[in-house]
Amino acid sequence: MWGGRFAEGPSAIMREINASIPFDKALWRQDIAGSRAHVAMLAAQDIVGAEDARAIDEGLQTIAAEYERDGVPEDWDLEDIHMTVESRLAELVGPVAGRLHTARSRNDQVATDFRLWMREAMLRAEAGIEALQRALVGRAQEHAETIMPGFTHLQTAQPVTLGHHLLAYYEMTRRDRSRFADARARMDECPLGSAALAGTGFPIDREATARALDFARPTRNSLDAVSDRDFAMDYLAAASQCAIHLSRLAEELIIWASQPFGFVRMPDTLSTGSSIMPQKKNPDAAELVRGHAGRIIGCATALMVTMKGLPLAYSKDMQDDKPPVFEAAGLLDLCLAAAAGMIADSRFEVARMRQAAELGYATATDLADWLVREADIPFREAHHITGTAVRLAESRGVALDALSLDEFKGIDSRIDERVFAALSVDASVAARASYGGTAPDQVRQRVAEARSELGMD
Ligand code: ARG
Repeated sequence: MWGGRFAEGPSAIMREINASIPFDKALWRQDIAGSRAHVAMLAAQDIVGAEDARAIDEGLQTIAAEYERDGVPEDWDLEDIHMTVESRLAELVGPVAGRLHTARSRNDQVATDFRLWMREAMLRAEAGIEALQRALVGRAQEHAETIMPGFTHLQTAQPVTLGHHLLAYYEMTRRDRSRFADARARMDECPLGSAALAGTGFPIDREATARALDFARPTRNSLDAVSDRDFAMDYLAAASQCAIHLSRLAEELIIWASQPFGFVRMPDTLSTGSSIMPQKKNPDAAELVRGHAGRIIGCATALMVTMKGLPLAYSKDMQDDKPPVFEAAGLLDLCLAAAAGMIADSRFEVARMRQAAELGYATATDLADWLVREADIPFREAHHITGTAVRLAESRGVALDALSLDEFKGIDSRIDERVFAALSVDASVAARASYGGTAPDQVRQRVAEARSELGMD
């Protein structure tokens, strides 16, 4: 393709280091779509004759059918998907194939192909998130009243409802989804026609190719258009953030599934056994979601580091943009599906969760709040009184509400029998009915909002 300028062909090392076909063959659909839009525009502008354009377009359709059937051949001498398609086109339609590359460079071609691929990956991520959200909201509705310990520092803090806890992940994934949608809106500009870096002298119609490829408009600066990989970094940043959330969810499920916790039984279908310990059921899917998050963040780092030192416009370093994006996208799709499956099919051990909330002095804050409300004691003093009560209960190995009224009065005479009503975990969560709080009523309201956001009704 550039043999005219060279006396010698590339060395074996050059061929190997240069070849991107092993991975960029994933772009074949986008490449053929881009070429078809380009040649149609060239014909409409009278840059290529109608006859030639038709031959080229038919050739491209034949290639698509071949790749669909047999896969894409990998010939390192052809470097990348763009040359692979073009050389097959020459075999099929002869020298007229050479007219396709008029007013185009592989630089704007790859930028276009990659955006088209990226747009689908973003839509796939959004759909994967939505499936997870439906599972979260469904389980939250089911468990609006299920009581569990809420934690800070992984120490029992205050009782919460499981529905509230699950809806926390709904909020995170809502932000994740909007990040992909934002990124998609931002990359809605077509680089095709920017050519190598400076645009072209041919009278092309960039609006037409942008429209044909379903972009809102053409990019406005040819140098930026062929150098820009922001859309890929936007994707990787959004994927990293999403993976961080999935990893935290996975981490919680792993903890909850451990025997000392026993809050959840993971589905058999997303667990593995041990070859030596017959009793084992390991949460491998959750662990791999946690592990894959690290790899996704690594992919984001890889592309950012690749891009940070590049002068305008295209440099071959940019060919390395694809492997981390393809890897991250494959991992994210898997993690989202695994997370949705774990949420949809886990069994929550409701009795065990309640018991843990009851045994962990989770309602100590409620006692302090009661002292403030009913006995008009300043919160700091109430905190101190409550601490004394917890110490006594702990030394006797009983829950707070197992202390007798006499014992409470011995700690502070202003306590009366009404205190017991405030010490139950049910009273505790019901009391936290502030907007966005854990009370079952609040959870049900948030579930209703989420269901309507997701079109679940
Ligand atoms: N395979 C190349 C890539 O992915 C295509 C662009 C090549 N452009 C060039 N001037 N060598 O970046």
